[in-house]
Amino acid sequence: MPGASAPTVGLDIGTSAVRAAQVTRSRAGLKLVSFGQAALPQGAVVDGEIRDAGAVSQAISQLWKRVKIRSKKVILGIANQRVVVRQIELPFLEEKEFRASLQFQVADHIPMPVDSAELDYQIIDDYSDKDGQRMMRVLLVAAASEMVESFVETASAAGMSPAGVDLAPFAIARAVSPNARGESGAAGAEAVVDVGATVTNIVVHHNGEPRFVRILLVGGDDATASLAKDLDVPFEEAEAMKLDLAHGVGTEEMKNLISGRVDNLVNEIRGSVDYYLSQENSESISSVVVTGGGSLTPGFTERLGQVLHSDISRGAALVDMNTKKSGLTDEQIAEVEPMAAAAVGLARA
Ligand SMILES: Nc1ncnc2c1ncn2[C@@H]1O[C@H](COP(=O)(O)OP(=O)(O)OP(=O)(O)O)[C@@H](O)[C@H]1O
Ligand SMILES: [Mg+2]
Repeated sequence: MPGASAPTVGLDIGTSAVRAAQVTRSRAGLKLVSFGQAALPQGAVVDGEIRDAGAVSQAISQLWKRVKIRSKKVILGIANQRVVVRQIELPFLEEKEFRASLQFQVADHIPMPVDSAELDYQIIDDYSDKDGQRMMRVLLVAAASEMVESFVETASAAGMSPAGVDLAPFAIARAVSPNARGESGAAGAEAVVDVGATVTNIVVHHNGEPRFVRILLVGGDDATASLAKDLDVPFEEAEAMKLDLAHGVGTEEMKNLISGRVDNLVNEIRGSVDYYLSQENSESISSVVVTGGGSLTPGFTERLGQVLHSDISRGAALVDMNTKKSGLTDEQIAEVEPMAAAAVGLARA
């Protein structure tokens, strides 16, 4: 049957671009077969949601043509405010029973009508509460069906065959952390933070078991917008100024504006990490991995390290792969790597 065994391509629909990655696995290891991105016009994707489906599907079609990706079987990533991930506590049930009554069990725990939500879950543990009742802890994912549909329809309109949808923060953690893939054990928990243009994804996991997820509407574009507003220049010009600043070129005023936005970004991340740590079953965080274009904002990693009292390492989504087949030079690989995590993680599911 043609296409039945077509390889799966990870497709990340971000604010600044759509990105596709195809990864194969053989005895020789992982191979990046193709990677490409196509810029999106401003307003096509806002806060992680598709606003202009036509512009997004056009960008996807162009990307497939340009990069010559043969397979159209895609896995899509989702990260926006219409998907929530919550840790909930319920009286213990055998998994089979829990699955059968999932909608009923979780209805009171999600901020959307349960019959218009896509649900997924992971059982974290079971324990006895102070009255001796057996309880279970579940990490619940609930996504508005209509929003998920908009991703599937947009990809389909570009001629793709969507084979699945995954939470982008999970894909990102898989891409940049061997520990999140369960390849190496560690004491304590690890936080993986992806700072995009307007969305910041945080996952805290313990040896690959996700314990906490937050999707925040902050990102690298906040710094650009602040420069544009205060210096009264167009967004594109402010973006160029920001990139110059990353190379040390710019005025004190610009540096102060950026550092104000970096403080805000870092405080938001700290708020989420504090919330995780305040949960009863949390583990202390022993490592922090960052990725995403917004994590390149001047001063970000230093400030995050100070505030979280932790060393910060930069995630490398392409480090364990042979990238020759992709046709990208080593320089290009290094340049796209921070922006590639979601697509690569989706591809290596
Ligand atoms: N070299 C750099 N220095 C500083 N900032 C950068 C650099 N490269 C990219 N950025 C910033 O990174 C952000 C884009 O990151 P990324 O491509 O990861 O986001 P996205 O996936 O398109 O958006 P989102 O994940 O928010 O939907 C922009 O704000 C951009 O200005
Ligand atoms: Mg992104």
